[in-house]
Amino acid sequence: MKIFDNCPLKERHTFGMDVKADRLIEFASEDELKSALTDAVKPLLFMGGGSNLLFLNDYRGTILHSTIDSIEVTAEDSTSVTVRAGSGVLWDDFVACCVEQGWWGVENLSLIPGEVGASAVQNIGAYGVEVKDVLQSIEAISVDDLSRRVFTNAECNYAYRDSIFKNILKGKYVITYVTYRLSKTATPNIGYGALKSVLPENPSLKEIRDAIIAVRNSKLPDPKVYGNAGSFFMNPVIPMEQFVELQSRYPDIPSYPASEGYIKVPAGWLIEKSGWKGKSVGNAAVYEKQALVLVNRGGATGMEIKHLADTVIEDVRKMFGITLHAEVNYIG
Ligand code: EPU
Repeated sequence: MKIFDNCPLKERHTFGMDVKADRLIEFASEDELKSALTDAVKPLLFMGGGSNLLFLNDYRGTILHSTIDSIEVTAEDSTSVTVRAGSGVLWDDFVACCVEQGWWGVENLSLIPGEVGASAVQNIGAYGVEVKDVLQSIEAISVDDLSRRVFTNAECNYAYRDSIFKNILKGKYVITYVTYRLSKTATPNIGYGALKSVLPENPSLKEIRDAIIAVRNSKLPDPKVYGNAGSFFMNPVIPMEQFVELQSRYPDIPSYPASEGYIKVPAGWLIEKSGWKGKSVGNAAVYEKQALVLVNRGGATGMEIKHLADTVIEDVRKMFGITLHAEVNYIG
């Protein structure tokens, strides 16, 4: 177990704010996690790669960070493989490992920042795939009584960027391992527009991974250059009647299917139409190549980013009658 007091967080989260935590504890096993939970001064924050957080201030409590980094095959047959990964494995290292081994299922999620544990909380998704599509179970430790619990996929209540760990069990469990079921036979999922046009007919895993990396790099800012947390907002899901009315005013409005009677519209399109794409307020900016992403141009505070987000939300609401919700978690 490693303990860091008065710990700088600038290099530990992707928005690059110059903030500190009273204490940060890295745990490398379930036992280390249990002893950290026993002694830690509250409040507690469980942090993965810090790729979905906006620190509004210094964190006055204890941050727990998993460094459990094993990847092991736990079962296998002629068509599939079951793989158990530690919550501290970098998500993209896991994807790279699967692609190298010839295991299908997570290649569309290439290059998403963050770690295995947090990706299961957030139900990360991109290019027609969500992590819930391949996730079999989660092992976690209870914060209250240190008991160990295994959650099946169904018990995680997965939905778009949502899980039980973001609502009724928020802050109640710390994830230690995630188990996935992946396919040994080719199951390419390349229906997404931007992919189809650049891939051959029967693409290999490596070709898909390379194409996804190229598309992401062309649209999304590198956190090492501009601090950011990927999509800042979720794509709103609105009633079909509201969409039909909007479509009569904006015939080019894009959409994706959602549950019956509802439709998902891209927040990036709404923000671009509201005039915010590429605009800045101080050091906080709406990224010029993808309006769904807010960036720290250098030296922005969390409050500055939040102020920009609130202004964008208000302008989108006035123009379209749609309220955007942050995908990023505000801390502080
Ligand atoms: N669009 C605009 N202007 C913009 C951005 C987008 O008009 O500035 C339009 C595009 O032309 C397109 C539509 O909006 O018609 C969708 O854009 P895009 O394909 O870039 O995807 P997205 O809906 O903006 C979602 C995920 C991303 C994921 C991509 C690809 C959410 C909140 N975001 O973005 O996930 O990479 O699809 O699958 O669902 C993340 O969560 O951090 C993330 C990057």
